[in-house]
Amino acid sequence: MPEDTLFAEVLDPRNRADPYPIYARLRRTPVARQRDGAYVVSTHAAIRSLLFDPRLSSEDLPPSRRPPTGNPLKDWLLNPIKNRIANAHRPLIFRDPPDHDTLRGFVMSEFTIARVNDLHGRVAALVDGLIETCRGRDTVCLVDDLSYPLPVAVICDLLGVPEQDEPQFHAWATRLATALEPDARRDEEARRATVETFDAIADYMRALIRQKRRQPADDMLSGLARRGTRDRPAMGDVDLIATAVLLLVAGHETTVNLITNGMLTLLRHPDELARLKADPERAPRVIEELLRYEPPVHFRSRKTLGDIAVAGATIPKGAPVILLFAAGNRDPERFSEPDRFDPDRADIQHFGFGGGLHYCVGAPLARIEAEIALVALCRRLRDPKLLADPPPYRPGASLRGPENLGIRIAGIL
Ligand code: HEM
Repeated sequence: MPEDTLFAEVLDPRNRADPYPIYARLRRTPVARQRDGAYVVSTHAAIRSLLFDPRLSSEDLPPSRRPPTGNPLKDWLLNPIKNRIANAHRPLIFRDPPDHDTLRGFVMSEFTIARVNDLHGRVAALVDGLIETCRGRDTVCLVDDLSYPLPVAVICDLLGVPEQDEPQFHAWATRLATALEPDARRDEEARRATVETFDAIADYMRALIRQKRRQPADDMLSGLARRGTRDRPAMGDVDLIATAVLLLVAGHETTVNLITNGMLTLLRHPDELARLKADPERAPRVIEELLRYEPPVHFRSRKTLGDIAVAGATIPKGAPVILLFAAGNRDPERFSEPDRFDPDRADIQHFGFGGGLHYCVGAPLARIEAEIALVALCRRLRDPKLLADPPPYRPGASLRGPENLGIRIAGIL
């Protein structure tokens, strides 16, 4: 396989279960131009230098275009206005400074460590309740039984989305998460479906924000929706909706993958599972190594604002760039025995949460959820065994994770 088509191999769902040998081949050319003109960056050093390079832009999302409806008022007036507004108010993950920094500042003022730490008890109770529902069964379907419902409940709780509306978010979040995949970006039909989903979720959020303004509660959305004053400006409504949608989506599939990949890895390494069960204090190490070894987000894309020389290559201005985090995480130049799962390694500087300006704002929350879930699963599932290895995977190459994870158990403790 020539190196200028290797990334197509990464996207091929048949390679989802084990993309790491392809990443090793990509790393031989740290900056590899693909036939479609995109540059794939796969070594730790090159990814790191680009993550901190202001000539790399995150504003790489294709413009939103609403499909023709046959209604001239919509097609010629309303939808073009909606498109223009949506394009000017992308969520912060698709924005560059200074707008990115302003929007991120608003989020960080509400997404405080104290607020996240307060969720400890709630997360533990949710995990216990979800495991309890598996009592009496001999099989756990981890995604359906725990990995999915947990992050959804937590993010809805944090934002202040009423519990009865949670199920609605399943389809919306899944649809919007697939919009991050390169294939979906190229597919016109998929882009239209994304726009429709965004409109539906945005309408819901607009109504919820109105309600939070009438009756503020102690949740993030109420905080973000507070009207501005002369001393304390507030986020505009369109940005507020885009931010709320981003928080809901970014906190979904990613955390699902971390918990599911985590249990899969521990079941493949029973000695590590036993050690975590005996010593829950090991959880932070285990989670960091998981974020390196089996990260939930394999790559993110960018666009160059100027020519950039990196790792002996020059990426021309305007080129799409793929930062292949999961390949950097397994770079032998950076980590000794990178293909070994070893929570005791001394230095785990992974790209699991990205890096630089766009470093994940949800990292502390994701860590808490994964630690509590994995410790509880190791302690409470009796004699857990994988039903299938490898398990079936969802098609996404960037947000990569098992569709479900069947675990045979001898009971619940
Ligand atoms: C295991 C779980 C998670 C993983 C692996 C993860 C991973 C990432 C990564 C790799 C990025 C960087 C994107 C880029 O460079 O373009 C990112 C950004 C982001 N994440 Fe997460 N994430 C997780 C959970 C969460 C949660 C729970 C939330 C919120 C509730 C969240 C909110 C965000 C936001 C808002 C950004 C954009 C930050 C910015 O552009 O400044 N994430 N995440």
